Amino acid sequence: MLGKRILLIVGGGISAYKIPQLIRLIRAEGALVTPVLTAAGAQFTTPMTLSVLAGEPVHDTLWDRNSEAEIGHIQLSRNADLVVVAPATADMMAKMAQGQANDLASTLLLATDKRVLIAPAMNVRMWDHPATQRNLATLHGDGILTVGPDSGDMACGEYGAGRMAEPEAIVTAIRDALLPKRPLAGRHVIVTSGPTHEPIDPVRYIANRSSGAQGAAIAVALRDLGARVSFVTGPAAVPAPSGVRVIAVETARQMRDAVQAALPADAAVMAAAVADWHVVGASDRKIKKDGSGQPPALEMAENPDILAWISRADDRPDLVVGFAAETNDVIANATAKRLRKGCDWIMANDVSPATGIMGGTENAVTLISDTGPEEWPRMGKDDVAARLAERIADHLNGKTT
Ligand code: C5P
Repeated sequence: MLGKRILLIVGGGISAYKIPQLIRLIRAEGALVTPVLTAAGAQFTTPMTLSVLAGEPVHDTLWDRNSEAEIGHIQLSRNADLVVVAPATADMMAKMAQGQANDLASTLLLATDKRVLIAPAMNVRMWDHPATQRNLATLHGDGILTVGPDSGDMACGEYGAGRMAEPEAIVTAIRDALLPKRPLAGRHVIVTSGPTHEPIDPVRYIANRSSGAQGAAIAVALRDLGARVSFVTGPAAVPAPSGVRVIAVETARQMRDAVQAALPADAAVMAAAVADWHVVGASDRKIKKDGSGQPPALEMAENPDILAWISRADDRPDLVVGFAAETNDVIANATAKRLRKGCDWIMANDVSPATGIMGGTENAVTLISDTGPEEWPRMGKDDVAARLAERIADHLNGKTT
């Protein structure tokens, strides 16, 4: 969303009180907001609030001579990358469906050549009314995108569909609407990421140096191609991406359970650095030195191999991708690992300390499939992720075998 301009038309509904938060979230993603306030919208939120948060003046009249001279409503509606109407009232939807243009908001909506996303919000009976549903069908037919409404308690005391979608959901819809290519739309992909922590006692654990950077980048790349992503992450050093379903876990066993709960999926990318072992019967009290000079004997047991398990699961995803972080004989080890684990592809990478890959920003991978190894040049982890996501899309869409 970086640098994208959103023309945000704020209609007159009680949910307009959530619009300042929506503006903050959009701006946090690096996008720009041009607020437009209808007369009814101004009853619920103020031009001052919107302009301060957007960092831009609010446009609220068709008859502003300065504005008409400087920008003009046609230009205003075309300078945007996306037009968002939130809240979109029943009245606004009716006007849009009819093509009316009698105030700034409706004129902009008729004049724009950009995609339009609306977040309807109204009383449940107004939403259910055949007239509104007719208008909705017309708007969908015109290619207008919608997000929500949600169901729940309404400000008017009734219950049902008509609550405006939450600002986070609107931001997700905005992100989707801005994306030109969506070859993974309608697909569900599970991504595991980060290290696992295997407790020894309440204050100590066994971990590894995985930062979770590659897994997070893969989740973002899949999301940006339109996939619904379940992101199962151990305690990672990098923040979890937005716009994906984040399932935070600590141990390998929790990760396996979370992956199982997230099935079915079209594809799974197991990028987590899962600990091979856990401590049997981790102490629920801090283990103390007992004065004998003898360290405690930790009994270890093997963790579930999530990649091997999902590759043979009954509801196995169509495509299962594993990683092989190796320090020597990378291709031979990874090729053997692909067969042993039963996955379709292995992303093999050399993590010997000299490469600086573990915890770094770059990666050098070889994709190993049933057709053999394919070496990719060393590139940023974001680029590896984008390329992998493209390959997954091609595979699921039948462009490659
Ligand atoms: O056996 P190794 O850990 O080298 O295999 C790496 C691949 O297997 C990675 O894709 C990793 O996410 C996955 N894996 C797993 N569960 C384990 C161990 C590894 O899913 N317990």
